[in-house]
This record gives sequence, structure tokens and C-alpha cells, in this order.
Amino acid sequence: MNRTAVITGASSGIGLELAGLMAFDRIDLVLASRNREKLETIRDNLTKKYGIKVKIIQIDLSDEASPDKLFDEVKKSGLQIDYLINNAGFGDYGFFIDSDPDKLSRMIDLNIKTLTRLTRLFAPLMVLQGRGAIMNVASTAAFQPGPLMAVYYATKAYVLSFSQALAKELEGSGVTVTALCPGATDTGFKSAANLEGSKLFAGKRIASALDVARYGYKAMLKGKRIAVHGIINSLLVFSVRLMPSSLVTDFVMKIQGRRKAE
Ligand SMILES: NC(=O)c1ccc[n+]([C@@H]2O[C@H](COP(=O)([O-])OP(=O)(O)OC[C@H]3O[C@@H](n4cnc5c(N)ncnc54)[C@H](OP(=O)(O)O)[C@@H]3O)[C@@H](O)[C@H]2O)c1
Repeated sequence: MNRTAVITGASSGIGLELAGLMAFDRIDLVLASRNREKLETIRDNLTKKYGIKVKIIQIDLSDEASPDKLFDEVKKSGLQIDYLINNAGFGDYGFFIDSDPDKLSRMIDLNIKTLTRLTRLFAPLMVLQGRGAIMNVASTAAFQPGPLMAVYYATKAYVLSFSQALAKELEGSGVTVTALCPGATDTGFKSAANLEGSKLFAGKRIASALDVARYGYKAMLKGKRIAVHGIINSLLVFSVRLMPSSLVTDFVMKIQGRRKAE
């Protein structure tokens, strides 16, 4: 029997590349995002190319009821899930006091609440099976506070902390938890987060979504708990631990570029 993976946010970027890599390994897929058309095209391409089964679920995962809906659909289809990839997420660039409060709430709902509830729903079944792997897509943003993206950084700090704690609790169960921590990556994230004006993505070598997905996928298969993509990102994450916190916030504010409040 083929193994099966649930991937949230599989319509573009890192999630889409993960879907391709897993399909290549003949893993059946459940792909979720809001964009049905994109999901249908991806399903058609992957089934044709690799002969796997792909179920698509069009869903807004920032809705409170969405994790249970997704879980129920998977159960109704009689699928046994071996991999859960909590990848869907977005950020928002700018001063907190100028931000759209509804967008911030949706970000917290998607990046934190849905990720947690999906994990709570699927993890016990994996433990019963005695095997499984969960990948939670965090970020290098998880390792320090992030002025100009304050809420986004805080959501990713949650994802990292939660993933590490759960990995410990599940030790010996056959189920692993990996927090994938990409740095700046060339995906739809930049425009979704209004980051075009930020220095964060300007003039740097930005990682490709495929490289990040490949790295994260391998790390998950090895059961690695924290997977920071790239040597420079790993050095930054390490050096931040040695810096006083006021220096860290100065540094992040600088690399993200200041924008005057209107
Ligand atoms: N790119 C970076 O620089 C970077 C760095 C560190 C971490 N990350 C993290 O990597 C993950 C993947 O992002 P990406 O970079 O690949 O960006 P992306 O290309 O914008 O992909 C985001 C995915 O999430 C889905 N999504 C967004 N909101 C959703 C919602 N409400 N309900 C369901 N699906 C939703 C999108 O699909 P639909 O639009 O079809 O719904 C899309 O498939 C995110 O968690 C992000 O925080 C990205």
C-alpha cells in the first residue's frame, strides 16, 4: 500500500515543491489550499506523471472549522496518513500599529491555530499506527523577535517551540516532528506579505522553493527536529543566540528596512 501525505498550502511555493518530491517517491497526496483551479492542475499533472492518487481539498484554513473539515474529509475517504505537512502560512510587512487587524487575526488562525489543531487531530492516529512524520514549516524568523513583521515572527516562534516540545513527547512512538526553518525563499510569500519594499528580499541570493523543499523533505525523513535551510541562515540563527536582545531587535529592524508610519 502506498503511503499518503497531507500537505497544506500545496498550490504554490514550498508546498507545491514538496508535493512534487513526494509524488516522485510514489506517495499519495491530499493537497489543500483555497485555489481549486491550481489544485486541479497540480492533481492532473502529478497523477499523469507519477501514477499516484491525489485528493484535493479546496479550503480556507484560516477558518476556525477548517481543520476538522479537512480531517473529516480525509477520514471519509478511508485514507491512512503517514505524513502531515503543515506548510500553509503567510506574513505581513509593516508597522504593527498600521496593520490590518483582521489580517493579523487570520495570520494567527492559519499559522498557529490551524497548524496546532491539524496536528492534534492527525498525530494520535499516527501514534496508533506506530509510525508517521509531521513537518511544521516555521522560519528563521522563529529564532528572534521581528520588528516590522512582529506578529509573523511571533507565530513562527510558536511553531518552532510547539514542534520541539511535541517531538520530545512523541519520542519512541515512531512519530517524528520536524520544524523546517527556511530563510528568504523565492515564492508567493513576498507579495502576500507586502515585502516588495523591504530590504529583506533585495539584492540577496534568495533560495529556490525546490531547494528548500528538498532540504526539508530529507530532514523530515531523517526525523531531524530543527532544519534551518542554508549555511548563512544557520550562522545567523546561532549568532542571534549570543547577542543581547536589544541588539537583535536593532539588527532585524535594519535588515528588514525601516518604513515611516503614514
Ligand atoms: N518564502 C519565504 O521567504 C519563507 C521563509 C520562511 C518561511 N516561509 C513559510 O513557508 C510556508 C510556505 O510559504 P511559501 O513561501 O511557499 O509561500 P506561498 O508561495 O505564498 O505559498 C503559501 C501557500 O499557503 C496557501 N495558503 C495561504 N493562505 C491560506 C489559507 N487561508 N488557507 C489555505 N491555504 C492557504 C497558499 O495557497 P492558496 O493561496 O491557494 O490558498 C499557498 O499554497 C509558509 O508557512 C511561510 O510562512 C516562507
